[in-house]
Amino acid sequence: MPGPDMIPFAQNPHPAPMAEDARAAILANPGFGTAFTDHMVSIDWAEAHGWHNAQILPYGPIALDPAAAVLHYAQEIFEGMKAYALEDAGTTAGTMGGITLFRPEANAARFNASARRLAMPEMPPALFVDAVTQLVLADRQWFPTVPGGSLYLRPFLFATEAFLGVRPAKAYRFLVIASPAGNYFKSGASAVSIWVSDYTRAAAGGTGEAKCGGNYAASLVPTADAFARGHDQVLFLDAAERKWIEELGGMNLFFAFDDGSLITPPLGGTILPGITRDSLLTLARDEGLTVREERYSLDAWRADAESGKLVEAFACGTAAVVTSVGKVANASGAFTIGSGGPGQLTERLRQRLVAIQRGHAPDPHGWVKRIA
Ligand code: PLP
Ligand code: COI
Repeated sequence: MPGPDMIPFAQNPHPAPMAEDARAAILANPGFGTAFTDHMVSIDWAEAHGWHNAQILPYGPIALDPAAAVLHYAQEIFEGMKAYALEDAGTTAGTMGGITLFRPEANAARFNASARRLAMPEMPPALFVDAVTQLVLADRQWFPTVPGGSLYLRPFLFATEAFLGVRPAKAYRFLVIASPAGNYFKSGASAVSIWVSDYTRAAAGGTGEAKCGGNYAASLVPTADAFARGHDQVLFLDAAERKWIEELGGMNLFFAFDDGSLITPPLGGTILPGITRDSLLTLARDEGLTVREERYSLDAWRADAESGKLVEAFACGTAAVVTSVGKVANASGAFTIGSGGPGQLTERLRQRLVAIQRGHAPDPHGWVKRIA
């Protein structure tokens, strides 16, 4: 029996889904974010009707009024999450086996926090999770066949009202699209290299903790700069003192010390509250490790890496999972973390997280939601 927050979904299956051999070629080498499944979910919101017109329809271009507010004032938010195919049914991944989501209610909660900051309508968490689930089930033959593969899900909401005055829009569209995903980093590197930007990403009171497209637009020049210099990601320092480490363009950071303790920057409104970050904090504490959510400066990072007090650093996020940082550079020089390669603690925490996500280990915190 659907709850009061649930609405019926019209089913409009794709009349001509991708041919099996073309799909198989993608699933054998998915990369990140370049291929999309046969379907998408769409739900509209209007002041008079709330959430309505939910449907699953063929993936494809959408029509937007040229005056739609999102195209002018960037009123848009999104989420990033993954579905995993279990190997428990003894079948090819994704064909008939079980399927899970990882902490989808946490994504729903963060989506609503972003919506509040961008003056957009909140979505009942059950409807958010239902929308994502329906798409995964419609496109369950789209799980990658490579080790470590998953189905990356991108729910997003944008202002569709045709109006050029600057105020919150009165009409929105929510879409979910899905993309088979392998390694986020093109190099497939076991440790990534980071460029510390002179640009900043977010100031106190801004939108740093919201997952809105505008934050990423502002990060593109520094990201392109990092790529042009041969690095994999950009690192942002705080906007007030240009001293404290905040986060990467699309990931949170952790630092590991020779006494076995960890530090990660605190959530103070300017960094994204990563669900991977939160999960790793919990797993590290479960192991008895001391983890501090504490400010850490770039100067301290360099000094501790050089003295050997800092032994590992790693990036974490849905797309990137957990990846060691091997090298850090800015305009005044570069330094190496440990041997410059993958770290042992990083690898252990990565394996513990992935084992839970993929159903290979018990799930003591109830993070895994089985949807098939
Ligand atoms: N920080 C930024 C800027 C991100 O874009 C992401 C990815 O979503 C993260 C951190 C990590 O968040 P999560 O672990 O929830 O994917
Ligand atoms: C994610 O990890 O889901 C993100 O949204 C980050 C982005 C860099 C792909």
